[in-house]
Amino acid sequence: MMGKSIHATRPLSADISASLSNSPTVPNFDRLARIYRWLEYLTFGPFLWRCRTHFLPQLLQCRNALILGDGDGRFTARLLHLNPQIRAHAVDGSLRMIEALGQAAAPHRNRLTTQIADLNYWSPPQSERYDLIVTHFFLDCLTTAEVAALASRLRPVLAPKACWLISDFAVPQSAFGRLIAAPLVALLYRAFRAITGLHSQSLPEYAKALTDSGWVLDREALHLRGLLVSQLWRYEESPQGLRSSTG
Ligand SMILES: C[S@@+](CC[C@H](N)C(=O)[O-])C[C@H]1O[C@@H](n2cnc3c(N)ncnc32)[C@H](O)[C@@H]1O
Repeated sequence: MMGKSIHATRPLSADISASLSNSPTVPNFDRLARIYRWLEYLTFGPFLWRCRTHFLPQLLQCRNALILGDGDGRFTARLLHLNPQIRAHAVDGSLRMIEALGQAAAPHRNRLTTQIADLNYWSPPQSERYDLIVTHFFLDCLTTAEVAALASRLRPVLAPKACWLISDFAVPQSAFGRLIAAPLVALLYRAFRAITGLHSQSLPEYAKALTDSGWVLDREALHLRGLLVSQLWRYEESPQGLRSSTG
C-alpha cells in the first residue's frame, strides 16, 4: 500500500509528497490547494458546491465514510458538521490538499483520519466497513480501467447497502453537449494536464465500471443543463455473491 496513515493534525512529511510526485498516475494538485476554492467560484460560481452537497441530506444515517480524492476538505468538513455520528477517512495524493483538509475539518479532527496515497495503488484498510464512499470531481482524474480497479478493491470493505456519492462533469447527448459541454470539458482536461500533469484525457465511463462492481444508480440530479451531475449509487450485492466470486 502506498502512502501512510496519519492524523489530520499531525505535521506531514514532505518526503511522502516527494515520493508521490514520482508516481505516474498522481497529478500534482499542491500548487492549486490554496486557490482551489477561489478558482472554482470564479469559473463555476456556486454550481460545483451545489453539485457536491445535493444529496447531503440523504447521508445523515451514514456512520463510516471513505472520501477519495478529497481535495481541500470543504465537503468533508460539512459532512462531519451535519452528521455528528459519522467518522471519515479521507485520502488524497496531494500533501497541500491534505493540509487544507486538516484545517477545514479541524473542529471535527477526533472523527477524521487522513492519508496521502496514490489511489491507483492504494488498498483500503481491510478491517473497516464503509457505508459511504464519496468521490467529488475525482473519478474524472482516472481512466475507465482505473475506476473499475478501484471499485473492485473497495468491494471487501463495503457495508451492506453502502452508498457512493459522486459529483462529476458530464457531456449530455444534446446540442448543448456537443457545442458547449464537450469543448469545455476538453479545455478543462488540457488546463489540468498543463498545471497538474493529469494523465487522463477524457471522462471515464465510470457508470459501467460501477455497475459491473455491484453498484446501482439510485438517484441523480443534473446541474448547468447536464454539464454537472450529482449521483447517489447503492451497493447491491448480487444473490450469487458477486463479492466472493470476483473479489
Ligand atoms: C479535481 S480535484 C477534486 C477535489 C475535491 N474532491 C473537489 O470536490 O473539488 C481532484 C483531487 O483528487 C486528487 N487525486 C487525483 N488523482 C489522484 C490519485 N491518483 N491518487 C490520489 N489522489 C488523486 C488530487 O490531488 C485532487 O485533490
